[in-house]
Amino acid sequence: MKITVIVATEKHGVTYRLKEAFLEPFRGSAEISEFYLPKDGPGFCTGCIACIGKDPALCKDAACVQKIEKALLDADLLVLASPAYVFHTTGAMKAMLDHFAYRWMPHRPAKEMFGKRAVIITQCLGGGDSSTAKDIKDSLSWWGISSIRVFTFKLMSEVVWDRIPESKREKMTGKLKAAAASMKRVDYSRPAHSKLSVKLKFHAVRMLQTSLGKKDPEYTDYKYWKANGWLENKRPWKQ
Ligand SMILES: Cc1cc2nc3c(=O)[nH]c(=O)nc-3n(C[C@H](O)[C@H](O)[C@H](O)COP(=O)(O)O)c2cc1C
Repeated sequence: MKITVIVATEKHGVTYRLKEAFLEPFRGSAEISEFYLPKDGPGFCTGCIACIGKDPALCKDAACVQKIEKALLDADLLVLASPAYVFHTTGAMKAMLDHFAYRWMPHRPAKEMFGKRAVIITQCLGGGDSSTAKDIKDSLSWWGISSIRVFTFKLMSEVVWDRIPESKREKMTGKLKAAAASMKRVDYSRPAHSKLSVKLKFHAVRMLQTSLGKKDPEYTDYKYWKANGWLENKRPWKQ
């Protein structure tokens, strides 16, 4: 199986250790691609809307975005890990997610995303672990992913890994290792089940695209939906 990991910081701190604990049961058997932000990520989105309106290849950061996108689409399991920075994900993670606005369902979602499984790991000192996870989950669910497991942690007193009491470290890593061990038993040749909420979002956008196509049959997103057969009977979760 293939796993693509995106870590919202380059620091080998708590985020890194928790991510490592989750990956441990997969090491040796899975093919793992890791991206550390900001070094492996794109720069900031300038809002040129070339990706949404015309072609993502026109983006100034196209080479980097396409490399990450290929890794995301090829993977059976996505792992995104982030610390909380001022109650949200890091600017580097947000910058990366912004580049995939054109993959949100109201635009041109990738059909491969609908059957994928994802894990989000966040942690903070005292608050913001859940809002950080939501920052990431918003994108993943609007990309079409239904199966998203979220692990959030509050450290409460100490944020330097080696100074965190061993019992607390073991509790956190043990939870992640146990989850990973159970996720290792999943049959990744079968796509994950698409949730009703994802299907409802899809059907709302389908109505929107039908109406937009009547006004402008050359509209980029409409042509994409039409070419995929989604305005007729085809559905991304059945492909
Ligand atoms: C810029 C910045 C902002 C932060 N904001 C928050 C916050 O809003 N809430 C919180 O509980 N911790 C906050 N923290 C603490 C980090 O979430 C915490 O130290 C975390 O363990 C860092 O993860 P790391 O070791 O992977 O870098 C912040 C840290 C930094 C550097």
